[in-house]
Amino acid sequence: MFPGHRPRRLRVSAAMRRMVAETEIAPRQLVLPMFVKEGATEPVAISSMPGVVQHTRDSLRKAAVEAVQAGVGGIMLFGVPTTRDATGSGGIDPDGVLNAALRDLRSELGDDTVLMSDLCLDEFTDHGHCGVLDADGRVDNDATLALYAEMALAQAEAGAHLLGPSGMMDGQVGVVREALDAAGHIDTGILAYSVKYASAFFGPFREAVESQLTGDRTTYQQDPANVRESLREVALDLQEGADLVMVKPALAYLDVIRAVREVSDVPVAAYQVSGEYAMVEAAAANGWLDRRRVALETLMAIRRAGADLILTYWATEAARWLR
Ligand code: PBG
Repeated sequence: MFPGHRPRRLRVSAAMRRMVAETEIAPRQLVLPMFVKEGATEPVAISSMPGVVQHTRDSLRKAAVEAVQAGVGGIMLFGVPTTRDATGSGGIDPDGVLNAALRDLRSELGDDTVLMSDLCLDEFTDHGHCGVLDADGRVDNDATLALYAEMALAQAEAGAHLLGPSGMMDGQVGVVREALDAAGHIDTGILAYSVKYASAFFGPFREAVESQLTGDRTTYQQDPANVRESLREVALDLQEGADLVMVKPALAYLDVIRAVREVSDVPVAAYQVSGEYAMVEAAAANGWLDRRRVALETLMAIRRAGADLILTYWATEAARWLR
């Protein structure tokens, strides 16, 4: 008899397919990135990210509660300040928008969710780079590290459970770990943006945080051509004390997620970034793609590649779809 083998038997019904599915997405594995805008009295729409807003401190609290009720595993917070300076001092100021909003969320949510904060200067600098500049206008790695250490303490004191150093400075995980430990914040963890490419997929995020950047980040973020370099970054971050490692962006880097998964014994996160979200939203708005199916398919692909956690702007909605 031909064909002698019939793989379609395992696809005959929804029940059969469900039973044999190899990969699953659970709401607890999704993390919602959120933006809070200093001084805002109404949420402000982000035109390149339909459905995502810059929150007021009040609307942030409400949306965070909704996310937790939907079952998402955590929240990653970004601040949008009204004033910026050369050293990004608004990120270190305990009353700066990000630290103030972290305190709001921690008091609202307690330990019911995992509260994470972006630990980077780019939202707070008037030149938009992830660190301070030297006399020649280059990003000064070691001077930046000292500021990250201060910023880490401010975020830990504001109540973040996990800090996400995302500036791609060499030694950033080590310096943050040391500062936290020296101040007694031994239980504050580090979600290291270990692998972060100089990606054009971050485009809409620049609108979301009103980035002042001109030029690019190619002297500190990675070249999309490389994967061995990513394994080196992961190894260094683990040595320096990372509790989780992250790959970013996600969909164009599934091979990198897989490679990182194979060498790391800590949880691996992947960040489905603003441009990945915007592409699908734009195509769906034109009626060219089925929004929900494509969103879930991309999340499944990222899980299948080996990510334990996914940061995604669809987190709340996807958590509801999955229930
Ligand atoms: C840096 C940071 C960026 C993103 C997360 N953290 C921007 C960048 O590195 O240029 C991008 C996230 C996204 O595009 O969704 N603070």
